[in-house]
Amino acid sequence: MTDAHDLPSDLAADLAYDTLAVHTGIGRGTGVGVGIAMQQMAAFQFDSLDAAAEEFQTNAGSSYARIQNPTTKALEARITALEGGSDTVCLSSGQAASFTAMLSACRAGDHIVATSSLFGGSVGLLGNVLPLMGITATLVENTPDAVRAAMRPQTRLVWAETIGNPAADVADLSALADIAHAQGALLGVDNTWGGVGLLCRPLTFGADMVTHSLTKWASGHGSVLGGSVTVGTAHDLSRNPIYTEGEPSLLSARGAGALAWRQRWFGTSQLGMVLPPQSAYLIALGLETLSLRLTRECQTALALAEFLSGHAGVGRVNYPGLGSSEHHALGQQYLSGGFGAVMSFEVADPATFLARLKVIRMAPNLGDTRTLVVHPWTTTHGRMPEAARRAAGVTPQSIRMSVGVEALADLQADLAQALD
Ligand SMILES: Cc1ncc(COP(=O)(O)O)c(C=O)c1O
Repeated sequence: MTDAHDLPSDLAADLAYDTLAVHTGIGRGTGVGVGIAMQQMAAFQFDSLDAAAEEFQTNAGSSYARIQNPTTKALEARITALEGGSDTVCLSSGQAASFTAMLSACRAGDHIVATSSLFGGSVGLLGNVLPLMGITATLVENTPDAVRAAMRPQTRLVWAETIGNPAADVADLSALADIAHAQGALLGVDNTWGGVGLLCRPLTFGADMVTHSLTKWASGHGSVLGGSVTVGTAHDLSRNPIYTEGEPSLLSARGAGALAWRQRWFGTSQLGMVLPPQSAYLIALGLETLSLRLTRECQTALALAEFLSGHAGVGRVNYPGLGSSEHHALGQQYLSGGFGAVMSFEVADPATFLARLKVIRMAPNLGDTRTLVVHPWTTTHGRMPEAARRAAGVTPQSIRMSVGVEALADLQADLAQALD
């Protein structure tokens, strides 16, 4: 189990996000460096056979970097604190994190209900990869009624994104948690757009695990790939045979730590989807300024969404911060501090619009310091069947824009000249 943080736990419980973001994961004492240390090594020593055996049973310290590394461990403590969870496992990418989270709840014969407005890679996992292992998924409209109707006795996991990519619709997290828990299933939430607990902490609304593409706002500078799975403090595994079968069962052997233990065992130890220490170091640095960046980006995004929705050359604008959005009420219920840094909008001629941009760049990433646009129909969602693309809120006219930290006036002028 990851130490929640190395701040005194009674103090940490009362500290604000910004304070936890810069102080968690750092030791205190004479000669201790101020910051997270980058430890680039593959193996760690034991001074006795007992110590080695103990470490391989508990993963409490470090043994071999495919299982755990001190730099990654410090990052995991930081993410756990920011998401309000009990433990975190970091992985090589957001895609690896989603895969690990899904595999931690399901085995052959099991079923997942997911909302259809998901990142294309997640649709790919559910539609292409997991079926190879005998795990099936049903993708439905992002409403509690549609999710409830799709539940089956074998459903072990409900999967949603806090804010859908790129439709910018907000999931009704508490309702989804109730539906999942009513039959002993788990709720997994991809909280990438929620900014590592800054805008939303799904675990406080009943989710059992949250994943991140740390590539986005956590790293924040478009420099590295990374992912994480954070588990909550209370989750009921008593009706999932993965955890209850066997002698001893995973649940009886690992108790409350069983879910995170299986995630580390599968994601890093068995599948080797390891986050390199250098990437962990850069992501931990990025987290220190996440709140400054994302708060500013949310303000700029709202202003740009208002500008675009009043522009004659723009069709539908999807952004939950707009009072006219059908997701505004859910946004107010689940998001705090802003409605996210990403929106999608429609233009009549995407190719011409994109070619005319002079400051904003076309690239398939989110959460960068720079504003980036992409045409989801041909790129991020391009491999999906047309019906699935439309169900995800993507049309041939859609542009997705992730707003960076540039001056609002410069971004607005660039959009205006490209549209006019
Ligand atoms: C919401 C969401 N989840 C997961 C991923 C996958 O993350 P990664 O590219 O780090 O594998 C992405 C990537 O764009 C994403 O937008």
